[in-house]
Amino acid sequence: MERVAVGLLGLGTVGSGVARLLVEQEGRIGRRTGRDVELRWAVVRDPGRARSAPVPAGRITSDVRKVLDDPEIGVVVEVMGGIRPTLDILLEALARGKDVVTANKALLAEHGPELFAQARRHGRAIAFEASVAGGIPIVQALGVGLAANQVQAMAAIVNGTCNFILTSMARDGLSYSEALARAQELGYAEADPTLDVDGTDTAHKLAVLAQLAFGASVTTVDIPRQGIDRLQPADITYAAELGYAVKLLALAKLSGAGLELRVAPTLVRRGTPLADVAGPYNAVRVVGDAVGDTLFYGRGAGAMPTASAVVADLMDVVIGRAALTFRAMNLWSGDQAAPKLVANDQVRSRYYIRYTIADRPGVIAAIARVLGDHKISIASLIQHEPGDDAPPDAPVPLVMMTHLAVEAHLLDSLREIDRLDVVRAPSVCLGVEE
Ligand code: NAP
Ligand code: HSE
Repeated sequence: MERVAVGLLGLGTVGSGVARLLVEQEGRIGRRTGRDVELRWAVVRDPGRARSAPVPAGRITSDVRKVLDDPEIGVVVEVMGGIRPTLDILLEALARGKDVVTANKALLAEHGPELFAQARRHGRAIAFEASVAGGIPIVQALGVGLAANQVQAMAAIVNGTCNFILTSMARDGLSYSEALARAQELGYAEADPTLDVDGTDTAHKLAVLAQLAFGASVTTVDIPRQGIDRLQPADITYAAELGYAVKLLALAKLSGAGLELRVAPTLVRRGTPLADVAGPYNAVRVVGDAVGDTLFYGRGAGAMPTASAVVADLMDVVIGRAALTFRAMNLWSGDQAAPKLVANDQVRSRYYIRYTIADRPGVIAAIARVLGDHKISIASLIQHEPGDDAPPDAPVPLVMMTHLAVEAHLLDSLREIDRLDVVRAPSVCLGVEE
């Protein structure tokens, strides 16, 4: 059997999973590709560290030149993450005739055009299934299976860490920091978990999805984003009382006005599939003009689900299928007429708002007057009786759901409401996805 030598950059959570799958599924990989896939080098920062990955110590190095300078290595699998020095390493690997498999959504979102131009220049391929939604084959679905469609909308849970935290807080009573620590232990979180919880990782993945589905070349700067790091448990509780789950969503909608992209914690109605996505699971709802509604679901983070996507890409590269798909998709080439982006404040949505108010006569009327002046219609209200032990003038929460409203009108109204002397703290506002 013909031998294909592979250089693996990174032997952490994902890299260890990749090494394990290459060993455990050696027979299947050989049968399906007709090649003997040899893991020649695994590159790490600290080769002296004890590791559980099934890679002989003599094959672990901190010297990336062992991969770049070896003409027999035809494929570089990049699972080390980060932008530098990763970008320079991959640009050189492509220039030296090696194909690339990567799980690095940050790199694709910020440097997709540069990397893909380099691959085209040197007749190489880049495969990146693991960069979005872990083990779910969403890149394959958008690039191949749904290729006959114009995608009209996507709503996606694509950060396993955030979904794990939100589920653990809502269902298991864990605090935010307990849930985050557990997600880190389980290998779901990025090396810097701030990227997960502040919405940046979800925005990176949305940038990749937007390129695949709409030909839009956007970076995180173009995507309005809010994470779960400032979400308060009270809002998860009120959302549940109203019949909603709070999920960190990546949203994309194409309309006559253009393409709307955003990342935000959002109320999702219970009983709809996205509301039931729990723990580290991800789901991507894609609406295509021919196919209608579709849903892709599976584990979005962790060693083996991610390795499943990485090794499938590696097999595609080895067979030669990835080269065909890469050419046909022609991503980040600037050739596609991309839709213009809709300004965030022109988005229309229903909203959940929590005010913190003085419990006095006329307060609700004052708030309702401001909302009415800004053409915002109230759909429902919750105010609970204060507990017996509450001090006489303690501020109380007032929770409201609106009908559809333009975000600019909503934000103007909240600025005005938060200046009322009966409002005791800045209002909290979240979008609603039905
Ligand atoms: P990780 O556990 O932190 O592992 C990173 C690996 O890369 C480690 O082996 C580290 O070496 C090595 N490394 C980092 N910087 C290096 C450098 N400059 N030179 C040489 N080696 C270097 O990260 P991970 O969770 O596996 O994630 C890797 C990539 O996959 C990231 O792009 C991430 O976004 C992506 N991803 C992760 C998941 C997931 O569930 N974890 C899912 C999908 C995609 P040492 O071991 O010596 O420190
Ligand atoms: N940190 C990421 C997550 C890994 O939690 O979803 C998968 O991309």
